Amino acid sequence: MSRDGFGSKLGIIAAAAGSAVGLGNIYRFPCELGNNGGGAFLLVYLLIVLCLGVPVMLSEFVIGRRTQKNPIGAFKALRPKSAWPLLGYMGVACALVIMAFYSTVAGWTLEYTVKAIGNQFQGKDIETMEQEFVAFHNIGWKNILWQGIFIFLTGFVVFKGVANGIEKYSKVLMPLLVLILLVLAVRSVTLPGGTDGLTFLFKPDFSKITGSVLISALGQAFFSLSMGMGVLITYGSYIKKEDNMTTTALSVTLSDTLVAVLAGVVIFPAAFSFGIQPTAGMGLVFNTLPMIFNQMAGGYYFCVIFFVLLAVAALTSTISLLEVIVAYLVEEVHLTRRWSTVLASVACLAVGVFASLSLKDGSGIAIGGKSFFDCLDFLSSNILLPLGALMIVLFVGWILGKTAFFEEITNGGKLKLSIKGVIYFIIKFVAPLAIAVIFITGLL
Ligand code: TRP
Repeated sequence: MSRDGFGSKLGIIAAAAGSAVGLGNIYRFPCELGNNGGGAFLLVYLLIVLCLGVPVMLSEFVIGRRTQKNPIGAFKALRPKSAWPLLGYMGVACALVIMAFYSTVAGWTLEYTVKAIGNQFQGKDIETMEQEFVAFHNIGWKNILWQGIFIFLTGFVVFKGVANGIEKYSKVLMPLLVLILLVLAVRSVTLPGGTDGLTFLFKPDFSKITGSVLISALGQAFFSLSMGMGVLITYGSYIKKEDNMTTTALSVTLSDTLVAVLAGVVIFPAAFSFGIQPTAGMGLVFNTLPMIFNQMAGGYYFCVIFFVLLAVAALTSTISLLEVIVAYLVEEVHLTRRWSTVLASVACLAVGVFASLSLKDGSGIAIGGKSFFDCLDFLSSNILLPLGALMIVLFVGWILGKTAFFEEITNGGKLKLSIKGVIYFIIKFVAPLAIAVIFITGLL
């Protein structure tokens, strides 16, 4: 089978940024930040992104472009008859785990889009919003219906193929999302009491930094950048031989981080202004945002467009997740693309249903006191992604080696890259050590 390439340089950046920017930035980042001490979390998060973001992302790109294969095929090609391909299988499993709970929240974006169109937030106070949010979770079939629709949409785009599927959608719509976030940020910051939210977000209280804050920040960084499980290996395999992967990695990392911080600037001032606890978790975003729109001229239209774009942002992320599973089924199991897509979608929904239902009051779908939804979230971000990223940098630093790495990132010597030595040093020594130390402190 011939592999599609991305149409243009912007294509791969748009697609990788489309994968990176999603609910992780707008929904999960504020949740994690609120639950992990505010400014202290932001500081640790930014440090991790700055030091590890580009090197880890480049490692994945290098593996992908060098082999032109999916994660499992890539490791098989580079190190046949070794245990490394297991890492690819772990990535496929992780994609399934993430898809299962991510599609739950993605489904909510559709429900909230419909609510926004029906002008159902108008004039509601925050208590009513919160009650309705909880009531919605208790209607299991509705959550599952939206989740199913979302997975179906994802499957549809994935089935149409990489180049014409992903590229087309994300190029125009993501900048629009950023634009709306900017407008929202201005409104949020100028709400009465909004500056308290800024203080919470930007003023680090160093006493709050614990092992669990560190691992949460690490996990969130990998989650947000779509790193540590092979999505970017798959994307790397579509990067052209003449593209500059380092600037691609840099652009993706920067834009993703910008959107996350911007989401924080939107959420926290408003949350403080409306009296929502920063630890409110899921409700933080879904309840706060409509309240901001209620306070804006033209809020109705902004609200509808926002939730549509949030759904699109989620879609460009779920596409990348499903693509990992589909690429595996097509290239390793040799199923047709159609059947691979059907099979992968059904599998995601089958697990995802339990994630959705576990949020019902008293559902009992929980492990050790944690809802199944939270378990999947924790398993992916705090365990599988850090482990995956650790193995990937170890592979590039110690197995693939310097010569091959330099050859890839300089396009066989054509690009002059003065910082290549620093990047390699980070990949070989700093990143493995940092990830291992944070992972272990997080477990203690
Ligand atoms: N990064 C996406 C977000 O922030 C989610 C995502 C898509 C992801 N693909 C991934 C996370 C691969 C981890 C790995 O919404």
